Amino acid sequence: MHSYVAALVLLAGYSAAAPATTPQLPDFNLIYDAPTPSLLGPPPVGGDQTSVFDVASALASATADVTTVASASSTGTAVLNGKRGASTDTASYGAPTSSSSIYTTPSLSSSSPVSTPTASTSSSISGYSATMVAPPTATTCKAEPAGYGPRNLSVTEFQHNVLFTLDALLAPTPRGYVNTFRNVNASVEANSYLGYYNLKSYDTNLCAQHCDNTTLCTSFDIYVERDPSVNPTADICPNPDAITNYKCALWGSSIDKAAAINYGQYRIDFHVVIAASNGYEKTNSTTPASCPGWKPPTNCGGAISASGWHLGSNFFPGPFDPAICAAYAEAQTSYNHAHADSSGKYSPANMFNAYMMKKNGIAQGTFCALFTTILDKSFGSFTGSWVGSDFFGVETSWTYALAVQDSGIVKR
Ligand SMILES: *[C@@H]1O[C@H](CO)[C@@H](O)[C@H](O)[C@H]1NC(C)=O
Ligand SMILES: *[C@@H]1O[C@H](CO)[C@@H](O)[C@H](O)[C@H]1NC(C)=O
Ligand SMILES: *[C@@H]1O[C@H](CO)[C@@H](O)[C@H](O)[C@H]1NC(C)=O
Ligand SMILES: *[C@@H]1O[C@H](CO)[C@@H](O)[C@H](O)[C@H]1NC(C)=O
Repeated sequence: MHSYVAALVLLAGYSAAAPATTPQLPDFNLIYDAPTPSLLGPPPVGGDQTSVFDVASALASATADVTTVASASSTGTAVLNGKRGASTDTASYGAPTSSSSIYTTPSLSSSSPVSTPTASTSSSISGYSATMVAPPTATTCKAEPAGYGPRNLSVTEFQHNVLFTLDALLAPTPRGYVNTFRNVNASVEANSYLGYYNLKSYDTNLCAQHCDNTTLCTSFDIYVERDPSVNPTADICPNPDAITNYKCALWGSSIDKAAAINYGQYRIDFHVVIAASNGYEKTNSTTPASCPGWKPPTNCGGAISASGWHLGSNFFPGPFDPAICAAYAEAQTSYNHAHADSSGKYSPANMFNAYMMKKNGIAQGTFCALFTTILDKSFGSFTGSWVGSDFFGVETSWTYALAVQDSGIVKR
């Protein structure tokens, strides 16, 4: 169903100093066809949520995906003749698709700081008196983690709350971060979600600390959310009293206003709404971690475009994590080595290029391209292109060279 992709692609952003090989586009079908992670942002409850991204399974899948021999110039990736287009850096994206309710099951199982049930257990009576109601609320209207903000605000009061607006407008930008959007009524929703912390106040510096202390985190979205005090159920508590949560959501990519697309949702009759959403990032000033066996990463601007040495690509939805590309590269080299030709030759992955692919300004995941040789920054010419009505953009493009280059000849 994606065969239209190559035909509709318009190439943009090529540098004049084009490499000596045919310019090459990423295979966008890898992104269209990739599964969506189960969590795209914090659920509409309090509490904390950590370790959302399963590194081990991402690494395992990168290895397991390698099931065929790859050789340079034979991977079937879309290749176009270099046609220079207008710069798309300032292109305005189309309206983001409104996928508002991302969570159908808002029950957060773990780490709920609240254990007090809401039932009015007044005294130590042995057995219920006739006038006491059996406690349905204790079992049905399950308490949600308590929020630290004002309680009982109506939707309108929440949306026009001056204190929230001031929180957003006056919040300091933490050292090392850049503020990317302010006072938006939606939170970020994207594949690069890493978890969230429920804060006691609108504290950007504390949220930045959480990001700094979280592997792969390079940005955060802080906002206030009107959440229900108990878990809404259709029969007994369809529209409970409101509480306010100060949420600090962590992301493994940059976050722009384009990704603030979660405007809340209904939980039964309770209207979850969001206010004072601010985005902060240190993505551009963060060097990704080194990968064992590979030289430290080199920033290469755009994605490497060099079809002659291209050994294959793969895409992994989630936060930006070059370690996945390293696992993929190593698996491909081992596979090729094990299936060397009769003269003992095989194509080694001597370099990989890892970057975050964004679609219409929203982070999608780590794109990995393998190359048989080390290519420098001058090959990093691909910065983005349109595919139909979608704009694909490249951010944080880094190359890793194999520390001990592989000759591609089986030693006998
Ligand atoms: C969010 O704000 C925009 C204007 O900035 C407004 O059009 C929209 O109705 C608001 N949505 C919600 C859910 O508050
Ligand atoms: C982050 O890590 C530092 C150093 O380990 C620690 O002092 C600080 O309390 C941590 N901050 C948070 C919010 O966990
Ligand atoms: C909302 O206000 C009512 C009436 O004052 C009070 O009984 C209730 O506890 C409040 N709810 C919350 C979540 O604070
Ligand atoms: C990060 O770098 C990219 C590419 O140079 C640029 O377009 C973007 O505006 C930068 N982001 C920030 C927050 O400075």
